[in-house]
Amino acid sequence: MKLINILFVIGFISLISCTNDSESDLMIELDTITYTNRIKVIIDGNCIICHHSGADAIGFFPLETYEQVKDETLNGELLVRIQLEQGNSLLMPQGRDRLSQGLIDDILSWQDGGYLE
Ligand code: HEC
Repeated sequence: MKLINILFVIGFISLISCTNDSESDLMIELDTITYTNRIKVIIDGNCIICHHSGADAIGFFPLETYEQVKDETLNGELLVRIQLEQGNSLLMPQGRDRLSQGLIDDILSWQDGGYLE
């Protein structure tokens, strides 16, 4: 009888720790901003209309892939340009409303997280 109790307790504990593990994994996944889960849709929706690689591209350089967006954020002016005040002619997206602060914060978090793909 005692052995059965002990086995039951051990089983119960491992069940709890398994559940906790998978829950915290899930939390990390939901909180972590990656290019694929968050950044691509922001750039696609606001930038690639000009920054694409087609012949009619007027943005001069494409922002179509992870490598291109990472490089422009890490080594280029992307973070500076999206944070200029409304009305500044250098603000990106050019000629449009400034990105919402939430979207800008997402790009800053992506930078803080080390530009995960
Ligand atoms: C309506 C067209 C248009 C849109 C939309 C647009 N851009 Fe641009 N972008 C340009 C043009 C044209 C230039 C070159 C002139 C200049 O530097 O201001 C440029 C320049 C830039 C530069 C400076 C590059 C350098 O090194 O000189 C960055 C960075 C940039 N864009 C990022 C973005 C981002 C990020 C978005 C989306 C949030 C965006 N742009 C949306 C047209 C656009």
